[in-house]
Amino acid sequence: MTLNPAGRTIETVSLATLHTDAVRRNPYAFYAELHARGPVCAVTPGESRYTFIVHGYEAVSQLLRSPDIRVSDRTRLDFVPTWAEHRTEAVFMNSMFFSNEPRHSRMRRMFGQTFTPRRITNLDPAVVSIAEGLLDRIEATVKSGERVDFMREYAFPLPANVLGELLGVPEEDREWYRPRADALGRLLELGGATQHNVEVANTASVEITDYFAELAAKRREEPRDDLISALVQASDADSGQLSPEELIANLVVVFNAGFVTTTHLLGNGLSMLLERPELLARLRADYSLMPSYVEEILRYDVPTHFSVRQAVNDVEIGGTLIPAGSWVLVLLAAANRDPGHFPDPDTFDPTRPNTSTLAFGGGPHYCMGAALARMEGQRGLQALFERFDEISIAEPPATPRQLMLRGYDELWLNLS
Ligand code: HEM
Repeated sequence: MTLNPAGRTIETVSLATLHTDAVRRNPYAFYAELHARGPVCAVTPGESRYTFIVHGYEAVSQLLRSPDIRVSDRTRLDFVPTWAEHRTEAVFMNSMFFSNEPRHSRMRRMFGQTFTPRRITNLDPAVVSIAEGLLDRIEATVKSGERVDFMREYAFPLPANVLGELLGVPEEDREWYRPRADALGRLLELGGATQHNVEVANTASVEITDYFAELAAKRREEPRDDLISALVQASDADSGQLSPEELIANLVVVFNAGFVTTTHLLGNGLSMLLERPELLARLRADYSLMPSYVEEILRYDVPTHFSVRQAVNDVEIGGTLIPAGSWVLVLLAAANRDPGHFPDPDTFDPTRPNTSTLAFGGGPHYCMGAALARMEGQRGLQALFERFDEISIAEPPATPRQLMLRGYDELWLNLS
């Protein structure tokens, strides 16, 4: 325990706790302990690059919006002169996720021009028809007496195909894409940048960036009604707004960010509802409740547990002075279980009046795909429940072990 210069006594926790089996199985018990220690904790000195964990709802919200806080960006890597030769770093660092002002606004504006609310609303019928197509296939499997892996047959292909439609990634390429996207995703996990993971991700990054560069060139030649064509045109018309590397890097991260997250929203959401038959029955009787169910799924078990930030100047967050240069682990999933903001936070309650979760982050990096993710969650789960009257878990799924992109690899179901 130390007295922070801002006057508050803050407790120290070890980040090693986040790597224990118990926490990987159930991080929420640990998050409850953190809340009992206040909104911010110090990390055991010298243990990692992080010096603080921020987990209280108000503190996380304040931090994400603070002008004194930034994301990790390419300036952090300037001391590694060859950083751009590592393809994964180059992809991440040329994207909006890992950019600060003024670069970040420039990229976000360019994507915002094309990734418009109207384009998302227009996707609604496509989401439903992709869902129905997948359910037809699942129904055929069920009729042949086989069980179904929900993740493989529905939770993955639904968002991957929706994103594919939106961006203009041909259907036959989407299965090829999945393991490569997983390879990139693994690096975002806490402690995930092992040498092996970096090597696998670098190979995947070369393949993926070459793939998108080729696709962008094709769309430049022959534009279609998709996001890649619109972005290429907008970027060419506004020369200098997006460099070729930035265009490709952002396509890669938007595609990745767009489907792995939603895959787990569907998987986590379904398993939670199957464990709560009364709540599921209420939903089946009235699908106008769907939006509040999806909001509660996002609060209760969001796939993106954390984000990372650095203080540019000394800044006070949650009554704690965070000195300039400090790295901070921002626990979004813990903030969503803060008892000070959500009474009885460990109860799944779709009727709670306050639904202002931090599932999609906040501030300048607020998720660009939130509306689409919500639509896919609502349409995807409703279509499934309408098609099958009885759904049960055929075998208990392996407990998710990641904190970033937390969800099931497989979820075997009996359906009828
Ligand atoms: C359940 C689904 C999703 C969840 C939980 C989620 C969560 C998040 C979070 C927490 C952030 C902020 C990260 C930070 O502040 O460091 C973010 C950013 C972002 N998300 Fe999502 N997301 C989801 C779906 C999507 C979809 C469907 C798309 C695109 C089609 C998308 C595109 C993006 C982009 C482009 C950003 C970066 C914005 C920026 O850096 O300015 N996301 N997302």
